[in-house]
Amino acid sequence: MCGIVAYIGQREAYPIVLKGLKRLEYRGYDSAGVALVNGDLKVYKKKGKVAELEEFLSGKDVHSHIAIGHTRWATHGEPSDRNSHPHTSGNGKLAMIHNGIIENYAQLKQELIKKGHVFKSDTDTEVLLHFIEEIQESNKCGLEEALRIALKRVVGAYVIVLVDEDNPDTLIAARKGSPLVIGVGKGEHFLASDASPIVEYTKEVVYVNDYEIAVIKADELILKNISNERQTPYIQKLDIELAAIEKGGFDHFMLKEIFEQPQTIFDSLRGRLDAKKGTLTLGGIREHAEILSQAKRIIIVACGTSWHAGLVAEYMIEELCRIPVEVEYASEFRYRNPVVGEGDVIIAVSQSGETADTLVAIESAKKKGAIILGVCNVVGSSIARISDAGAYTHAGPEIGVASTKAFTAQLAVLCLIGLKVAMEKGSITQQRFQHLLDELDSVSEKVALTLKLNDQIKAIADKYKDARDFLYLGRGYNFPVALEGALKLKEISYIHAEGYPAAEMKHGPIALVDEHLPVVFVATKDSYYEKVVSNIQEIKARKGKVIAVVTEGDVTIPGMADDVIEVPEADELVAPIVSVIPLQLLAYHIGVLKGFDVDKPRNLAKSVTVE
Ligand code: F6R
Repeated sequence: MCGIVAYIGQREAYPIVLKGLKRLEYRGYDSAGVALVNGDLKVYKKKGKVAELEEFLSGKDVHSHIAIGHTRWATHGEPSDRNSHPHTSGNGKLAMIHNGIIENYAQLKQELIKKGHVFKSDTDTEVLLHFIEEIQESNKCGLEEALRIALKRVVGAYVIVLVDEDNPDTLIAARKGSPLVIGVGKGEHFLASDASPIVEYTKEVVYVNDYEIAVIKADELILKNISNERQTPYIQKLDIELAAIEKGGFDHFMLKEIFEQPQTIFDSLRGRLDAKKGTLTLGGIREHAEILSQAKRIIIVACGTSWHAGLVAEYMIEELCRIPVEVEYASEFRYRNPVVGEGDVIIAVSQSGETADTLVAIESAKKKGAIILGVCNVVGSSIARISDAGAYTHAGPEIGVASTKAFTAQLAVLCLIGLKVAMEKGSITQQRFQHLLDELDSVSEKVALTLKLNDQIKAIADKYKDARDFLYLGRGYNFPVALEGALKLKEISYIHAEGYPAAEMKHGPIALVDEHLPVVFVATKDSYYEKVVSNIQEIKARKGKVIAVVTEGDVTIPGMADDVIEVPEADELVAPIVSVIPLQLLAYHIGVLKGFDVDKPRNLAKSVTVE
């Protein structure tokens, strides 16, 4: 989704903003632009990649110590030069960038048109800027006050940053619902949608809260709430290193992140799990473990890959804790007036911690009295901050748009939560508890062994890359893995793929099976194994091509499947962390072999900050 970068200080602003926009490319976008003040306000923007903007600006005078930059992911109006940000006010003195959606923009636009405003774009952003300008002129007030008045009427979500030709020593920013981080340097400030454009300059950051307005000069940061009361900026230390947001010798971020998993899974467990001592500590939920164990039910809300992790957690938590668990798409949960309230615990699962659907879902559940537990990857993110308690996944920055290492870290942390609650509740035997601790303790190693199959999986990818459709099937804990495998494939190879419970296949999708259809079975040894073997037979009987992910040493399925990928044995609760790895690699290689940009698939955004 839209990316925001801004700089004010002694250095040349344009190169910093341009580099920052490149760092944010992973969020997904279709156009880019910058505004700077050098005597007068200059705005340059173009449909296409940041590199195209850079080329367009080469040789131009971009000298300035203040600049704002933006990558746009189209919502209102097609991707085009004129719809790109920054937008300018009617008098040409103000430029603004925006991430989010102004929901009442149509009404505001009508009012402004009646007052003589002329719009150059189709965007809600330009409407908001004209609205601010209108207030500034009619109330004869400064930009900050006009912004405050305007925001009181705005319905929707936003991060906005403004520059004013008449005040080239000040940036003004505001936030509601979309993320904004301010990096605090020595005599300089950096603004961005996330920390990746900031980390190489400073580790000190301030996360702006909803309904706050920031007035930023090179050596001063003033934060106020919407009622104009000063707030004390809370400076936090970033715990990421520059290397974590660079490719480190891999062809793509996605491949790097797939290969990082032995480490990231280990990191998600580090300091929490001590298998030798038989202990499990989860500091973030310590005070809520009892509430959790007494929950009437647990509702997991999430989107996409995180929702798949939630499905695995449903199986885990019900089995370990005997507490009813529901897994909801956050976008549906929020708007269908769900029965939720005191006694319910909501677990919000989100890599970015900024997904608007998930954020609004938990906001409404919280208002109704539910306890919110966040399982987020990005430290300090909106979902993490609004949650009553939670556990970070500690997978490090995930830059590839298709989620990989965040998923396995989510599975590991959700398993820890299930185990913690089961212990608290007394619903698990000491023996099973210890066994699962041992299983989690060894899972990073099993993932490392699975990654050694990369070349074999690449060869399988080459064999099937031209298929038109794929079916992914699994049962029990492997059913959500099948869903995740299908999602990965469609995201980065644009091949139609469906995930299904293996048994449900005969109630419809089996009609699709013929000699051209590759069917990926996640068929590791678990309590459903025999049944899955029968499902494989059903596909083979209809000439479907079977690619099976099986447990090492399996002697049955290799005799039936066309291609077999053997992964190390793991307890079925932990197995998804291992069995998803070949599916990530299969999708990656098919995407690459088809020549697609797997790190930035078309139409997708990394952090989906609109509903
Ligand atoms: C899939 C993917 C998306 C996200 C979804 C939720 O590869 O990345 O489906 O999982 O948009 O995002 P988070 O986890 O950031 O809430």
